[in-house]
Amino acid sequence: MSEAGKSRVLVVGGTRGTGLLIARLLHERNFRVRVLARDPARASAELGSAFEVVAGDLTKASTLPPALRAVDHIIFTAGAPSGRYASERLVKATDHDGVLDTLAAAHRAEFRGRFVYLNTIGIHTPSVARTLLNLLKRNTFVWRRRVEDEIRSSGLDYTIIRVGFLVDRPAREHAVVVGQGDLPLAPRNRIARADVAEAFVEAMQHPRASRATFEIVWGDGPRRESWDELLGRLRREARGEAEDKLRR
Ligand SMILES: NC(=O)c1ccc[n+]([C@@H]2O[C@H](COP(=O)([O-])OP(=O)(O)OC[C@H]3O[C@@H](n4cnc5c(N)ncnc54)[C@H](OP(=O)(O)O)[C@@H]3O)[C@@H](O)[C@H]2O)c1
Repeated sequence: MSEAGKSRVLVVGGTRGTGLLIARLLHERNFRVRVLARDPARASAELGSAFEVVAGDLTKASTLPPALRAVDHIIFTAGAPSGRYASERLVKATDHDGVLDTLAAAHRAEFRGRFVYLNTIGIHTPSVARTLLNLLKRNTFVWRRRVEDEIRSSGLDYTIIRVGFLVDRPAREHAVVVGQGDLPLAPRNRIARADVAEAFVEAMQHPRASRATFEIVWGDGPRRESWDELLGRLRREARGEAEDKLRR
């Protein structure tokens, strides 16, 4: 059953790319949408007056609490800038410390909803693309792997969605494969940002996505299965399993 109409969702990363598509899709589905923005004027101009824009910067923990007040769910897609060099200091501040500071602010705000986090496939599987990305965005995979562990042990309800290479194409052009393995980051494992946006909005509400980690990439042929079918097969992580992952 959809919670739309009454629930407020905070989108961290909602000013651009996949997060912006998620914010717009949530609005279309009648959720109240709040977006964290480093540049609130630019974000308001982009999003329009139906969206609540709250100033905040992931690298400055003291700026985060106002965005976390009275939200029902949090979707986190932000990351150090893609496609150009980012120092390890910036990567850690954004991709690791920024997530932890958001979780801490959520706890302080007595957040009781689901934290839905965007990560990248290849977290546990080496590949050429992963090596290159780790050189460009310094050790981003190291910090993003640690963040997964922190989310699992945070005590919050969560879903971790690992996405393939992101491309700008409309949703529903291809089948979507939802898996719980360890796909490598490679150009063949790609998916549209618009398909990812659907996955986030559906997973945020789906009971089987609670305490689950899954990957999404395009599959062969057209989309045949509904999100309910795709997510309905998910296996939740038991607490012991989450601790095992912590030791990996
Ligand atoms: N490109 C790929 O193929 C690929 C594959 C897998 C995963 N990813 C990851 O997927 C996510 C989405 O990628 P995308 O290309 O769709 O979006 P994107 O253009 O990389 O957007 C990043 C978002 O993070 C926000 N952000 C960055 N630093 C911030 C900070 N200090 N405080 C607050 N917000 C901050 C940006 O806000 P501003 O508007 O203020 O810049 C923007 O909204 C990223 O985390 C990326 O690393 C990308």
